[in-house]
Amino acid sequence: MGNRMPGLTVATGLMKHPFDQANGVRTSGLVAGRHLKSGHRHDRHATAYYGVAPSVFAGLVRRWTESHPKASLKQWTLVDMGAGMGRAVLMASSMPFLQVVGVELNPALARIARRNAAIWRSAGRAVAPIRISCADATEFRFPVGPCVVFLFNPFGATVMRRFLTHLRRQFAGRPIGPDILYVNHEQEGEIERNAAWKRVFQGRIQRSRSDTKADRKILESQPDGEYAAASYEDCSIWHWAE
Ligand SMILES: C[S@@+](CC[C@H](N)C(=O)[O-])C[C@H]1O[C@@H](n2cnc3c(N)ncnc32)[C@H](O)[C@@H]1O
Repeated sequence: MGNRMPGLTVATGLMKHPFDQANGVRTSGLVAGRHLKSGHRHDRHATAYYGVAPSVFAGLVRRWTESHPKASLKQWTLVDMGAGMGRAVLMASSMPFLQVVGVELNPALARIARRNAAIWRSAGRAVAPIRISCADATEFRFPVGPCVVFLFNPFGATVMRRFLTHLRRQFAGRPIGPDILYVNHEQEGEIERNAAWKRVFQGRIQRSRSDTKADRKILESQPDGEYAAASYEDCSIWHWAE
């Protein structure tokens, strides 16, 4: 069960984000990478579970829609690679995407994401259909049609390299390749080295005041004290260039 993961109980620093309070879902908590065990060889490359700041996700998607993507929003599938409990998936499903898919390696987190999706749907908040797939990023089969991949720093360089290779193979021969939206883009050098993508944005996306306040409070309450929140996230947006 998800609750047994350190970081998801009050004793290990759990505090609810206002997103959960407002929507009756469960996406709060910070689970360090070393506690994210699924049995997959890629477990040791996982960074952590933490839900994206809603204002950062909304700001990044807005910038991408302004960057002249190759199709209209209603033709794109947004794939959140490393979806955790599904906060970004829920938000994306309130936008007019064709569909939203969350891919999560950890089965306990994927189960929580599915429950959140059910709550979100029954509250009438989902405009786009939602699917949660419990899979490794490098093994996921992408749906047909244009896909935009959202990454909130899910894994380190080794898996990032393997994932980009997988992505290129999955989209070989397709008319529109995958765009990438990357928050806390620690491995952006791996994309840059790859001629398949062209960077169209690099910079800070601001957290709203209430998200900054919430994330600071939440992260300060973590007993391990190994994470901190700034008032922004370093982000980049990549268009498929081939
Ligand atoms: C920082 S969280 C992001 C959560 C979500 N995208 C959001 O923004 O709210 C990163 C997630 O990536 C997942 N992850 C790490 N490695 C993965 C892999 N190889 N395949 C799929 N998911 C992975 C972790 O389990 C974790 O839940």
